[in-house]
Amino acid sequence: KLRLGVLASGRGSNLQAIMDACRANKIPAEVAVVISDKAGAYALQRAESAGIPAHFLDYASFDGKGAYEQAAVTILKESGVQLVCLAGYMRLVGETLLRTYANHIINIHPALLPSFPGLHGQRDALNYGVKVSGCTVHFVDEGMDTGPIILQAAVPVEEEDTEETLAARILEQEHKLYPEAIKLFAQGRLRVQGRKVMIQRLANPL
Ligand code: GAR
Repeated sequence: KLRLGVLASGRGSNLQAIMDACRANKIPAEVAVVISDKAGAYALQRAESAGIPAHFLDYASFDGKGAYEQAAVTILKESGVQLVCLAGYMRLVGETLLRTYANHIINIHPALLPSFPGLHGQRDALNYGVKVSGCTVHFVDEGMDTGPIILQAAVPVEEEDTEETLAARILEQEHKLYPEAIKLFAQGRLRVQGRKVMIQRLANPL
C-alpha cells in the first residue's frame, strides 16, 4: 500500500474522502500521517478520530519556510510517506518539500486550472461569469497551482449561485476526483512528460 501524508489547513473534507476511500479498499493506499499548519484545524480531529497520527506545526515558531518544511519532511519521512497530498493546504510549497518529494506532491484546486488559481478559485470563477468551472488535481511545482494536470472534473455554474453553493457543487466532485487521482498514482499509471501527465491504460484482461 502506498503511504500518504496529507497536509491540510482547515475543514479536511478532502482528507476525509481520501481516508474513506483507503479504508474501503477503493485505492491501494493508506493515510500514514496528517500535518496541519493551523492549530484548531478540523482536519486534525478527523485524523485522530480515524486513529491516524496528526501533527500541528506552528509556522510562526520556525525560522522561515525552510525550517518549517524541514520539520514537516522529518515527520513525513519518519512515517514512511511516499506521496504527499495537499488537501486545503493554504501555503505555497517551498524548495525543501519540493526537492525531497520531487514529482511526489499533488494538490486539489477548486477551479479548472489554469483558470482561477490562488486562494479563491470558486469566487473568482463566479465573478468572472464563466458558465462552467470545476476542480483540478495536479502535481505541485514551485508556482501557484501551475504544475502538470492529472485529472479535472467540470461543474456547471448556475445563475443563482453564490460562492457557497458553487463551492458545495465543486466540493462534491473534489471528493471523487482526489481519490481517483491517488489511485492512478498508487497504481503507477502516471507518467509526467514536460507539462503533460500521461495516464497508462490498464492492460486488457483477455
Ligand atoms: C477545497 O475546496 C480545496 O479544493 C480548496 O480548499 C478546500 C478545502 O476543503 N483548496 C484550495 O483552494 C487551494 N488553493 P477541505 O479542507 O474540506 O478539504
